[in-house]
Amino acid sequence: MPAPPQIPLSVVAALALITPPSGELSATADLITELDTERFYGMVRLQWTIFVRARPDLLPAAWPLLQPWLGADRPDQAMIVAARRVAHAALDAGQLHLTGTPRRRDTDVFGPLLVALRADGARVTAGQFYTPGPIADVLAAGLTTCAQPGQTVIDPAIGTGGLFRAAAQTLRAGGIDPASMVWIDADIDAVAVACAAVNAVLWELGPTVALVVGDTLTDDWQTVAIAQRREILQIADRLHGAAFAADVLGTVARLVDAASTARAGRARRT
Ligand SMILES: C[S@@+](CC[C@H](N)C(=O)[O-])C[C@H]1O[C@@H](n2cnc3c(N)ncnc32)[C@H](O)[C@@H]1O
Repeated sequence: MPAPPQIPLSVVAALALITPPSGELSATADLITELDTERFYGMVRLQWTIFVRARPDLLPAAWPLLQPWLGADRPDQAMIVAARRVAHAALDAGQLHLTGTPRRRDTDVFGPLLVALRADGARVTAGQFYTPGPIADVLAAGLTTCAQPGQTVIDPAIGTGGLFRAAAQTLRAGGIDPASMVWIDADIDAVAVACAAVNAVLWELGPTVALVVGDTLTDDWQTVAIAQRREILQIADRLHGAAFAADVLGTVARLVDAASTARAGRARRT
């Protein structure tokens, strides 16, 4: 049985959330490639844990990508091995040279990937043909001419977010920080919405992104999106600190420990 699209998407997303230090893109890619299966699993979990801690508001939307790594059950070993192969392929293809740099704001890595991973029939049925970047840029230029900070940008069929990427870049070019806007969006496809949630972070859309899975032919989808965001932020406030911090700090400590041991081993050999 083929792996569900969220496994490769979640790996590419976890890698996309890494911002290597300047001038260390290749070194970072090498470091990740050298991780054994267990450390690779820890690294991906760490990326997603940091994501949740930084953006609890996007947790429900992003959950299909987080679930394999942070869900109650550890994924089986074959899945982790396959995911590690995906990471190697993405790193070999130079992913960090795109997503690890400001060029990430110009790209939707997930749209083409999701389309490629979906069987043709399912894609056609769902009408999933994402707007190509250059066309999205032209549309955004027309739609954002009179935009002001604080205004709301809405896409009721967001897909992986291509139109938002174009809108954000057009706003930047016009001197408006996209983080000053309110972004409200939805799609009926939960995996596409999860990709859009990660893209919202990669594209720096700012703190006010209400993103929901649902049928936007209903009247109240925007109210639902805003209410869901408010509710998760209230829960995150109550949970603040304890569980997330323990997980992040524990994983960081283990990775630092492993990296120091590996470094010491290399130093001894030279
Ligand atoms: C042609 S794509 C456009 C995606 C994106 N706006 C873009 O320009 O790249 C149409 C999207 O509408 C979504 N969709 C179809 N019916 C929907 C519905 N009733 N409610 C919400 N989303 C829907 C599909 O899942 C798909 O992602």
